[in-house]
Amino acid sequence: MTVTDESLVTAVTRRFSSAFGAAPAGVWSAPGRVNLIGEHTDYNEGFVLPFAIGARTAVAAARRDDGVLRVSSAQYPDEIVTVPLSGAVPGAVSGWAAYPVGVAWALGVRARGQGNGLPGPDQRSGISLCIDSRVPEGAGLSSSAALECAVASALNDLWGTGAGRTELARACQRAENEAVGAPTGIMDQYASLFGEDGGAVFLDCRTVTGESVPLDLAGAGLTILLADTGERHVNSDGGYASRRASCERAARALGVPALRDATLAGLDRAGTALDDETLRRARHIITENERVTETVRALRAGALAGDPGEVGRLLTASHASMRDDFEITTPALDLAAATAIGAGAFGARMTGGGFGGSVLVLVDSRRSETVGDAITGAFAKAGLTVPTLRSVTPSRGARRDAGMS
Ligand code: GLA
Repeated sequence: MTVTDESLVTAVTRRFSSAFGAAPAGVWSAPGRVNLIGEHTDYNEGFVLPFAIGARTAVAAARRDDGVLRVSSAQYPDEIVTVPLSGAVPGAVSGWAAYPVGVAWALGVRARGQGNGLPGPDQRSGISLCIDSRVPEGAGLSSSAALECAVASALNDLWGTGAGRTELARACQRAENEAVGAPTGIMDQYASLFGEDGGAVFLDCRTVTGESVPLDLAGAGLTILLADTGERHVNSDGGYASRRASCERAARALGVPALRDATLAGLDRAGTALDDETLRRARHIITENERVTETVRALRAGALAGDPGEVGRLLTASHASMRDDFEITTPALDLAAATAIGAGAFGARMTGGGFGGSVLVLVDSRRSETVGDAITGAFAKAGLTVPTLRSVTPSRGARRDAGMS
């Protein structure tokens, strides 16, 4: 059973009181996520298999009566950002505050746009928000989704918006796309909202419907180790967007609505309609979708306890595809993955948007320390900064931790 780190709830409550001079109405939190498999498939309307992790972002919040949004963050203690809600639109602020401000905007627009009688931007009160997070930024663990989903959960309750979790996920994705300018898919937000103890989230990104898939690591004597290379990335720079553009180009050339609908046979038939690079980008998406559904099948058939190597091989094949076809790994990520396998892990792959961040390693719990030491040793030998190692387990999604009873 996952409970939000008590000290995080206490810290964010205390910070709220000192920033705003009163107690918050409540505290909400949402977790980061690790993607077990299914990389860059989400915006191709394909399949993903992430799970929420124990590290969370918490938001203490209360309504105000002056129509202003005020946001304070423990990670950026030097400023309190103040925006009138009527002016909380994309481009109003930049940097870290674009996430909470973007969510306030997206939730309001969404409610009004649906004509469903929910409060639109003009009926909303002002809000004071205070943020604190244990999800490392840029590590491929989706600190941005954790922040968005915690803020969305708080606003949904405080405004009485009545949005369901899927609707909140869409609003958070919209905030990231339009207010932050990162052309990301819906995987991270969905995982942060729908995560659960002991299970991964198998999400069909076309229909935006998810199913739970058992992932009882402890019961199978397994550990998922994360090696954070320390190489930092953002999804709003060129690499992520250029991969997305290649995928859209490939879908057009293949005459399919999205690469979700493409096949390897179709790729063969396309011949020279696709240049070599675009072909390899499309091949990654096609094969990765297959690996996700294979992994789900294997997990449901009990492979974790029976033959973890079957899942491990799919993870390792995913890494190879991201390295050779999609070209989003780095030498440090490749070194971490190869070293883990060489030291006896069942499988290893980069997780997240790529160009830095973390490698996920599936390993027998009894070998986890040996594998961790091997990675540390290999990085030291290569003159690279030694990775931060942590183990992760599937944990519960966004929730209210205190107040508003
Ligand atoms: C980032 C994005 C997700 C997804 C992954 C790659 O985490 O936010 O939408 O595209 O990269 O799988």
